[in-house]
Amino acid sequence: MNPNAIGVFDSGLGGLTAMKELCRIMPHENIVYFGDTSRVPYGTRSADTIIRYARQDLNFLSGFDIKAALVACGTISAVALDSIKDDYPFPIIGVIDSAAAAAVSASQNGRIGIIGTPATVKSGAYERSISAADPDCRTISIACPLFVPLVENGHISPDDPLTKGAIELYLSKLLDFEPDTIILGCTHYPIIAKAISNFVGVDIRLIDPGKEAALAICRLLSLNGLTNDSGPAKRSFYVSDSTENFETYGGIFMGRSINGEVHKIDIEKY
Ligand code: DGL
Repeated sequence: MNPNAIGVFDSGLGGLTAMKELCRIMPHENIVYFGDTSRVPYGTRSADTIIRYARQDLNFLSGFDIKAALVACGTISAVALDSIKDDYPFPIIGVIDSAAAAAVSASQNGRIGIIGTPATVKSGAYERSISAADPDCRTISIACPLFVPLVENGHISPDDPLTKGAIELYLSKLLDFEPDTIILGCTHYPIIAKAISNFVGVDIRLIDPGKEAALAICRLLSLNGLTNDSGPAKRSFYVSDSTENFETYGGIFMGRSINGEVHKIDIEKY
């Protein structure tokens, strides 16, 4: 029998941006989600630590009947994916290339802003991918380390004063560059996309990497004849810390209650 589930993982809530899109476009797929909530944030850590965490996350997901994994985390995709992707028997897709391609095709003026975690910005991964897709595009990259803790702690309303303050702090400089497209280069950021859009203006196109990567994995599975096209789908959520925050804020973002569907595991065992 063919392997059956898509594995999706992130340091916390951010990967739900990919999960939500996957559930929409692939309604018959079984999906297992892991959020490493006991160790979030990843984006302020060293490359060695991010690689070690990413391996543990994938080792955990490997215990399911996985046919492909989606690294729904800009930080792991930028810093760890190349080192680990050949060590697993299923294809593993990151978020960088599909988001870079979407930004290049959306931009009219060839000026693309990239915001992400410190580790992602330091890696230069989005710039490399954009320049491979279109060497004429110009980019500016800004690290926004406060965004992930704000999202994980539920500051996700567009009117939240702390979130609005952090957005102004980080993004004022970005606007001086006059981009017409911004990559929300950490998967947590689309959760506060409305607040970001309110600040930068609706004319600037925001690229959601989780969403683009969900489309990419859907194409990959279709090309390889690995899609489930009928039958009920099972969705499971696992976290490495208390389930409460994840259920509350994850449920708000997913647009449905996930209470009782989230399970806690000990990631240090993997
Ligand atoms: N959502 C992740 C990303 O896309 C991780 C953020 C973090 O843990 O710092 O980068």
